[in-house]
Amino acid sequence: MSIKYSDKVIDHFKSPRNVGDLPEADAVVTEGSPACGDMITFALKINPETRVIEDIRFRSFGCASNIATASMATLLAKGKTVDEVKTLKHHDITDALDGLPAVKLHCSVLALDGLKAAVHRWEIDHGLVDDETDILDKQHVWTALEDVINPRSGISVVDAKLITDLRVEPDEGSVFIEMLLCDLDERFAQAIEEEIREKVNALKGVKKVMVQFKPCQHAGH
Ligand code: FES
Repeated sequence: MSIKYSDKVIDHFKSPRNVGDLPEADAVVTEGSPACGDMITFALKINPETRVIEDIRFRSFGCASNIATASMATLLAKGKTVDEVKTLKHHDITDALDGLPAVKLHCSVLALDGLKAAVHRWEIDHGLVDDETDILDKQHVWTALEDVINPRSGISVVDAKLITDLRVEPDEGSVFIEMLLCDLDERFAQAIEEEIREKVNALKGVKKVMVQFKPCQHAGH
């Protein structure tokens, strides 16, 4: 199956913007996806008074979509305040690239995760937030699941209303997730489960993640 990319994705892959290191960086963070093994590093120069991202660089150790989405993320972030960057959604990146194939949408999630992690690191280092924002609760798990994209439909498992049960035991650090798996998605079950585990395991306090699939009658979901 060949994957069709937009002209903009190809342009950003071939001529990525803001690639490289930033010697004067105020925050440098590398994020990785255990599921696909790709990695991304963002370096930010942030004005402490205005909180504007004045300069940004990235290095990608990943696929073509990883490079293109990281490149576009730098353009969207530069000149914005850290608070504005925190409101960015992965579809802001893909929309600016005229779309990505559904099976590649998770690459934009990784790019945005990396960018937001760098902003978060800067806030922690400047005493603006403490590291306690990641207390394990249902809302944090739910937010993490919003970033799990079904590679067939390109829709998050939350937006597609596929999550039918979510139980969190903060004391034990255990999370139980039940989700619908429709016929057409069966071949992606392993990839979806890996994405779920990756996102939820990244939350503070998580020790055990259980994922259970439930057959779905409506193949069109
Ligand atoms: Fe992993 Fe693209 S396949 S980021």
